[in-house]
Amino acid sequence: MYKPDFRQVIADSQKVLDLIAKKDLDEQERRWVVEETVRGFRDHVNPGFLEYRKSVSTDYTAVEWTDSGATFEDVNGREFIDCLGGYGIYNCGHRHPKVLKAVLDQLSRQALHSQELLDPLRAMLARLVAQITWGDLQYSFFTNSGTESIEGAMKLARLHTRRKGIIAAVRAFHGKSMGSLSATSKAVFRKPYLPLLPGVVHVPFGDADIIDKLIKAGRFTGEEIAAVLLEPIQGEGGVIIPPPGYLKEVRRICDENDVLLILDEVQTGMGRTGKMFCYEHYDVVPDILCLGKAFGGGVMPIGAFVSTKEIWQEMTPNPFLHTTTFGGNPIACAAAIAAINVILEENLCERSAELGGYFLQGLTDLARRYNAVCIEARGMGLMLGMEFHSDELGYMVAKGLFEQGVLVAGTLVNAKTIRFEPPLTISREQIDRVLNVLGDVLENISKWRA
Ligand SMILES: Cc1ncc(COP(=O)(O)O)c(C=O)c1O
Repeated sequence: MYKPDFRQVIADSQKVLDLIAKKDLDEQERRWVVEETVRGFRDHVNPGFLEYRKSVSTDYTAVEWTDSGATFEDVNGREFIDCLGGYGIYNCGHRHPKVLKAVLDQLSRQALHSQELLDPLRAMLARLVAQITWGDLQYSFFTNSGTESIEGAMKLARLHTRRKGIIAAVRAFHGKSMGSLSATSKAVFRKPYLPLLPGVVHVPFGDADIIDKLIKAGRFTGEEIAAVLLEPIQGEGGVIIPPPGYLKEVRRICDENDVLLILDEVQTGMGRTGKMFCYEHYDVVPDILCLGKAFGGGVMPIGAFVSTKEIWQEMTPNPFLHTTTFGGNPIACAAAIAAINVILEENLCERSAELGGYFLQGLTDLARRYNAVCIEARGMGLMLGMEFHSDELGYMVAKGLFEQGVLVAGTLVNAKTIRFEPPLTISREQIDRVLNVLGDVLENISKWRA
């Protein structure tokens, strides 16, 4: 039986701590980092990741090490333009100096909160969130991730309405903890865990009429609907933009039937689509807004669910009804406060709209030119996607881009639509470089197919 050798553990952990403290690594250290990383993933994290990464990176050596702005470098100093943006976390760029400073300043004073006294940054961030959101959205509960924001929103909807039903959409992605997974739609993630939460149904995204019918049917059968939960643009589903008038009609139906509208802006929020929140494009305000990802400025994990005074009343008599130890901790709040400041001060929403339009035009031109490979490019702001005729083609494009120093998301399992979600701080020159590389990759694939 294995028995721990704590002296060895002290030595091993010290070696890693020394490595973290180093500015530059020599050849031997770089090799050690790659070997240790691969070994750790193989023996202690999940060997499946090695196969997954290998499918795009062609070898294991792309171990990420340092980042700034719209790029990151692997441990061997190879630079990549980040067009994946950590699936939408780097709206402010990688390690934006102002976000980093706020976190380091806060860290030098206090890292986590006592859990007992009033912690100031949580209050100050909640007020800022109330200032940047539309309508009566006023109260925030801070979480550690997107999925927790959805869990909280679903619980709040049940609490306020005393009903259980949730209508979500086909192709939706809301996270993978049990509650949010119930609203996520993809069978591959859900099937092993069925049955999930009762009362969650999925309807086609873009069809408001069916929502109305289901709400009314639920009232008749007694299985009543508490809330409709939607992403304003479906991200993981493949950058799917709803038809004109859809969200406004859903809002009207919810109002008419006294059902809550929860908008999941975990990915679309914080300037990603060219507005601070995507709902602004549609002139629709949700009853509960969910945030995550870029809310922490690309430096700290933090999410939130935000609602109105009226709905929040349910949480007031016992504020411990829904809690989390780390949610809203001072360093995460410092990062989110800085993120709000940076997004507004640097006009990142406008930048996202402008550069997104330019990028989309470039992608559309390429999609038309290489229409034997691509179906179309679409998106809003810097939330863009390119759809291919097959997973294999999308995978080849992702792999080709990676080989030439551009990171996008796409694996053999799921690459029919590749997403381009770079930091909103990306430069026009970097976008041009991505478009040039993409053009070369598409040209090569077209020749190879001919
Ligand atoms: C729209 C949306 N909601 C929720 C989540 C879940 O967020 P997290 O991975 O932080 O739990 C994601 C993650 O991709 C998402 O895109």
